[in-house]
Amino acid sequence: MKRKPVLWRWFGSGLVRLSAAACGLALCGSAQNLEDMVKQGEQVFTQSCATGYCHGVRGNAGGAPRLAARGFEQAYIAGVVTRGIPDTGMPSFATRLSRPDLVAVVAYVATLNGITDPNLGGSGPPATARSQPALTGEAVRGARLFTDAVRGFGRCSTCHEVGGFGIPVAAPIGNVPANVAALKVLATPNVRTGSEAGESMPALVLSEGKQNTVFYDLSATPPVLRNAAPGSVKFVDGSNWHHTSAIGAYDDAELAAILTFLRAVIQP
Ligand code: HEC
Repeated sequence: MKRKPVLWRWFGSGLVRLSAAACGLALCGSAQNLEDMVKQGEQVFTQSCATGYCHGVRGNAGGAPRLAARGFEQAYIAGVVTRGIPDTGMPSFATRLSRPDLVAVVAYVATLNGITDPNLGGSGPPATARSQPALTGEAVRGARLFTDAVRGFGRCSTCHEVGGFGIPVAAPIGNVPANVAALKVLATPNVRTGSEAGESMPALVLSEGKQNTVFYDLSATPPVLRNAAPGSVKFVDGSNWHHTSAIGAYDDAELAAILTFLRAVIQP
């Protein structure tokens, strides 16, 4: 399965906070040469990010989400490293790392994502970000509901990232259903059935490589990122997983508000 590139959208306060992070980082990243910076970043990464239940050597996933080759944009990486992700194991590193280390590690993770020329000067968010309209009324309510902490792992942001918030378990949302009824019968063609030693599970495969197979096991909530030896888990198309099972924390009016929000920030 091929994943679409991450579509980067900014909205509301995310824009303000993330661009502040990117500009803050810009102050310290200027003079040093890129190669040194990336080397320094790799060291910081090995010491702070690749340990224990975290991102693995070269960002290839330990227990936490894989960071390499995810198509992350640098401003997103800078934002997440600086702020952390609320209610997950990802802490904010704003005060844990020195400024130069922070810039270096962001540059390093950027290179893992194919950004060969990370922006160490930082010119702020991409141009599209600035033209993102401010959200109003119903869309603001939808945005809050999408990441609503009260829903626990039942919230949409458990599996979807929009505008820098949430965990991108599923590929970026490209098509927003026309209405709540359509959302409830959403097809999930990329969810397959994996089986391993007689047990089967709904799975979203990220990569099937020569060295390992990386997939999300959707039988758990939140979905678990797994890294299996090639061939140890067999996949067939189709599954008995239904997206409706993932959205039950919301009533119809709330789902309608969320769709209004998605329509405001996602252009097909
Ligand atoms: C437990 C994980 C999970 C949660 C929670 C979840 N989704 Fe999903 N969603 C998925 C998966 C997995 C897919 C992709 C299925 C596929 O590609 O086959 C998906 C697909 C979608 C799509 C289709 C995207 C496209 O481009 O076709 C939309 C829209 C969507 N989800 C909206 C929502 C909304 C709104 C919520 C919250 C009310 C939500 N999802 C909660 C896992 C989840």
